[in-house]
Amino acid sequence: MSADEMKKAAAAAALEEVRPGMRLGLGTGSTAAWFVRLLAEKVRDGLDVVGVPTSVATERLARELGITVITLDDVAGLDLTIDGADEFDPELNLIKGGGAALLREKIVAADSRRMIVITDESKAVETLGAFPLPIEVVTFGATATVRAIAEAARSVGLAGALAFRRAPDGEKLVTDQGNWLVDASFRQISDPKALAIALSRIPGVVEHGLFIGLASSVIVAGRSGIRRIDRRTT
Ligand code: 5RP
Repeated sequence: MSADEMKKAAAAAALEEVRPGMRLGLGTGSTAAWFVRLLAEKVRDGLDVVGVPTSVATERLARELGITVITLDDVAGLDLTIDGADEFDPELNLIKGGGAALLREKIVAADSRRMIVITDESKAVETLGAFPLPIEVVTFGATATVRAIAEAARSVGLAGALAFRRAPDGEKLVTDQGNWLVDASFRQISDPKALAIALSRIPGVVEHGLFIGLASSVIVAGRSGIRRIDRRTT
């Protein structure tokens, strides 16, 4: 199986969790896009669901394919969110935001009864951090915020390069919410919870890509097939 076939296989496995009438969170990225495409086939066959997209790109795709798009303000919570991830660890903590959509993704996941993450084996790590952690920051005072991020990281024993994410034209990438992203190369985040708390205290940080306690399950597609890991609740 190619990497793309694995992503499609994970998305197909997640589709089996979808039931008629569900209100879904629709993730962002190449794996989540497979889910949206497969979901659209079911919708064309008569499946009645609605979805809240986590990015402008996902909204465009969902609308093009005929999925009914709603907002979080239209409903009192979602049944299920399906999204990709950049890394996951054995506790099902995630790094997300490689596709620049972490803020909406986290709001949507937090308003869902369940979040199923769809990935391929390359995203499995023992310790988060090889993938640079995306941190969404307000543009006002962004340099001061970057200094504060470095200080917060030091307070939990971490250091590493902090770089503004760039768009293809070389300018700072602007997120769907009009903010910038700082990618933090911490390499080994041994205590993600402590880092998450430290980052959340910084006024200019809107959100960060550490998703802790949000994923209910991860569906991993590998060369030997599909495996599903459920979060331990005790
Ligand atoms: C977007 C994300 C994506 O879920 C993450 O980057 C994984 O993307 P892909 O499925 O393309 O590997 O967090 O912000």
